[in-house]
Amino acid sequence: MKFRFVFFALLAIGAFGGTAALLYAWESPIATIDPRSHVTPDRALARRGASLALLGDCATCHTAAGGLPYAGGLAMPTPFGTIYSTNITPDPETGIGRWSEQAFIRALRSGVDREGRHLYPAFPYDHFTRVTDGDAKALYAFFMSIDPVKSSAPSNELPFPLNVRLTLAGWKLLFLHPSRFVADPSKDEKWNRGKYLVDGLGHCGACHSPRNLLGAEITSSGFSGGEAEGWRAYALGGISLAPVAWDEAALADYLAHGFHPQHGTAQGPMANVVDNLSQVDPSDVGAMAYYLASLGKGKGRNDVEKVAAGPGRLPQAAGTQAATPAIPPEAGGAIYITVCASCHEGDRPVPFGGLRLDLSTALADATPANLVNLVLRGIPATAGASVRPIMPGFGEVLDDRQISDLANYLRTRLAGRQRWDGLDKAVAEARGGQ
Ligand code: HEC
Ligand code: HEC
Ligand code: HEC
Repeated sequence: MKFRFVFFALLAIGAFGGTAALLYAWESPIATIDPRSHVTPDRALARRGASLALLGDCATCHTAAGGLPYAGGLAMPTPFGTIYSTNITPDPETGIGRWSEQAFIRALRSGVDREGRHLYPAFPYDHFTRVTDGDAKALYAFFMSIDPVKSSAPSNELPFPLNVRLTLAGWKLLFLHPSRFVADPSKDEKWNRGKYLVDGLGHCGACHSPRNLLGAEITSSGFSGGEAEGWRAYALGGISLAPVAWDEAALADYLAHGFHPQHGTAQGPMANVVDNLSQVDPSDVGAMAYYLASLGKGKGRNDVEKVAAGPGRLPQAAGTQAATPAIPPEAGGAIYITVCASCHEGDRPVPFGGLRLDLSTALADATPANLVNLVLRGIPATAGASVRPIMPGFGEVLDDRQISDLANYLRTRLAGRQRWDGLDKAVAEARGGQ
């Protein structure tokens, strides 16, 4: 679970000795400012900040379901309790209207609030610490330009001693490395822009990297895959398991539109990320794709027709069309043909036409998490969006045994890989988490 590290922060303190941590723990308050001093912020700067806020997914975390943008209150469940995001509108009482630029920038890059209290790393300041002065100022100008909203987030529901913010000092001592981004002079400007955004505001590693026992990201092996809200954030770069290797063009397309015909659609927490990226300057998304592509393509094959002809393809009865294949002998195969194939085989268009499943990373990945989530819940229609894919959920019609049979069939026959360990448990857990 993403927020498990809150608990382990305590261990970190023990490891380093209370005194050192306490000395480090102390941060001074920064004086309040008169909220009227920012009534006419620099509009051009604020516009740039708006785009940076999209790149940083600020609204995704700082908006409660059905709430006003940036007014906070989104519950972020952890195994130990719930952390709520805060109001970052310029309301003087309940938001950050009395925060100076200096206080805002300290919060963003060091995880310390105006009053000097440590913030939980559910706020990804371990990435935002790389943000340049110029971008941090633009973000501040943007947040001071938006409408103030009066709204206080509920208090965090964490048991003692996790509710003592001082405990976070130990974690930060070990894992927060405050430092700005330094460009690599041996690479071109586009690459450096992409790396800056991916590692900094984009905080891609917050989901796409595994975490150690103390909850900090392990980055030594690249983006080797992580967990986010019950979804698997796949490995990226040279260790990607995508059946068709990712190239720069496919990455740019997927990140900007949330879909690529050879890779499918962005679901779960990735759906919010691409919704945000679809609104930023395409050159920034292009730079991220360029940088990610430089990390390697993965071992997938580039030739889709060869993938289609691979050993896992659906057995076809002689003389039949692709749309009416024979029922395979496996229990899961019958379910696939009757329930899934009408949308996932053949040329049915969006919104109901799905990807050929042998192209999906969900079948190739080390865990069945995303496949199971998709089968249980489907892909809900999005209000307002015109041509977004829609897939019904089958949690009500298929029982756990049937879902396991189906997943085993897809995994072994379509993806041509070994069965997943722990599949039954994963199905039960995903259903329990609904
Ligand atoms: C993954 C979720 C997440 C994202 C993304 C995120 N935040 Fe936050 N942020 C939080 C949480 C949770 C807190 C509260 C932490 C706490 O209570 O210790 C927080 C706290 C803050 C605070 C401190 C506010 C206060 O009153 O103490 C500021 C300022 C802030 N975020 C700004 C931003 C900005 C700017 C962005 C985008 C660049 C952003 N956040 C993106 C989760 C997030
Ligand atoms: C009514 C049409 C429909 C049916 C029936 C359907 N799907 Fe889907 N499915 C879709 C659409 C549309 C998408 C989104 C486009 C895409 O990514 O393939 C999708 C996406 C998926 C994905 C994600 C692919 C990716 O990596 O992007 C998986 C896995 C999946 N479906 C599995 C199934 C399984 C298993 C069944 C049968 C239990 C099923 N679907 C039944 C329409 C359908
Ligand atoms: C909040 C968590 C989260 C963040 C932040 C995040 N991702 Fe993802 N990402 C996911 C999840 C979960 C999936 C799997 C979703 C799916 O397949 O529908 C995913 C899938 C992907 C994929 C598809 C991989 C494949 O083989 O199908 C790419 C590419 C990707 N993310 C790139 C990025 C980049 C680049 C960033 C940073 C700008 C990013 N992600 C930030 C959670 C996240």
